[in-house]
Amino acid sequence: MRALRIGMIGIGVGGAEILPAMDSMESIELVAGADLVPATLATFRARYPEARTYPSARELCEDADVDAVWIATPNRFHAEHAILAAEHGKHIVVEKPMATTLADAARMVEAAERHGVKMLAGHTRAFTTPIRALRRLIESGRYGGLRALNIWSYSDWMLRPRTPDELDVAQGGGIPFRQGPHQVDTVRLLGGGMLRSVRAQVGQWMPERPIPGYYSAFLEFENGVPATIAHNGYGYFVGAELVPWGADKAIYDVDRRVAIRGAMRAGTRDEAREKQEIRIGGDREKEYFASVSQAAWVPEDMGLAIASLDRADVRQSRHGLFIHDDAGKHDIEIAGGRETAVVQRRAELEELYRAVVHGAPLWHDGRWGMATLEVCLAMMQSARERREIMLAHQVPVPAGYDADMPIPKA
Ligand SMILES: NC(=O)c1ccc[n+]([C@@H]2O[C@H](COP(=O)([O-])OP(=O)(O)OC[C@H]3O[C@@H](n4cnc5c(N)ncnc54)[C@H](O)[C@@H]3O)[C@@H](O)[C@H]2O)c1
Repeated sequence: MRALRIGMIGIGVGGAEILPAMDSMESIELVAGADLVPATLATFRARYPEARTYPSARELCEDADVDAVWIATPNRFHAEHAILAAEHGKHIVVEKPMATTLADAARMVEAAERHGVKMLAGHTRAFTTPIRALRRLIESGRYGGLRALNIWSYSDWMLRPRTPDELDVAQGGGIPFRQGPHQVDTVRLLGGGMLRSVRAQVGQWMPERPIPGYYSAFLEFENGVPATIAHNGYGYFVGAELVPWGADKAIYDVDRRVAIRGAMRAGTRDEAREKQEIRIGGDREKEYFASVSQAAWVPEDMGLAIASLDRADVRQSRHGLFIHDDAGKHDIEIAGGRETAVVQRRAELEELYRAVVHGAPLWHDGRWGMATLEVCLAMMQSARERREIMLAHQVPVPAGYDADMPIPKA
């Protein structure tokens, strides 16, 4: 069994979030990194002395010893970098959102197919263990058919430090582009993939942030099953407070959120410095990632997901799922439910590995990512035009997906 040799393009906050998962896998070898910032490359080199570093995506793509790239550059570069990688014969994982327009996503799909490389649209919470276990339970039919899905998230996403491009919707900024994919991917995975339409409203009510920090959306599947998703990123109330074990698991505690909001209002916040502090080698890197690496599930960015079936409601619990059925309430520990987020984040790397090395099917391919992007874009269009938007690029969850994952039992 040989290791898959990965090059990371864009070693920022999102990139750093996946590094511990890569470090923990024998089947993955991180062999190169590319970034525009020399200090970031120097830190990367210090941490991975065997790896090569490049000041551009192109030079990394020209490295013959790289099998696949992990693209974690700002959203506006995803299409350019994915197409560049495909042209150099590299397999690809692209961070969410896959692109900022459907036309770009279609060009990425076309390039991957033309050059015969695998492209995985990744890094959404649909890959997390409770959601995958919940999908297996729904698919088993044990509690009848799926009737409704509801996901709510309250996060401090709008208070986290941002670069100027992140404060521009045209470049993929704001909650619908950046956080929408977590909930949309999850809804699509749980409901079978084929959404029919979207009606949404988007909110932007913090003067210091010229991007939407809120959405509510009503999604309907082809078979009539409804789903609602909502995300409020303004950070007054955070979802972690909903569970007894979650109080200290938010990225910022309440005092920090108060201080950050105050500094933003006073115009005294140095966001560039703060963002650098949570990137690789930064003073707060470990503290920041500790909150996203814990073993217990808390309603963080993706939120609380509740699936209603004919004879049960099912939702995430600390290490698995709560099943509320005709016999009462059961807290079911699921396989992998005690693993840290680091281990759970291996899922997409494993999917890529199996696809590239063993020729297994790639489930979250470019067409899957494009379908999720279509919904995020439709949410924004629906809000602008105040009408329901019909969808045209949806694809089903492939047959056989996650067949090895045990079906949770009450
Ligand atoms: N899945 C998640 O949970 C998650 C979390 C955070 C970020 N992300 C995603 O990661 C991506 C980046 O966001 P971020 O918060 O990490 O931003 P960031 O600014 O911290 O990281 C981007 C990095 O890319 C580098 N870069 C910019 N232009 C480049 C270029 N042309 N070539 C090479 N490198 C370049 C920057 O110097 C920076 O280090 C976004 O798509 C975002 O949605 C995902």
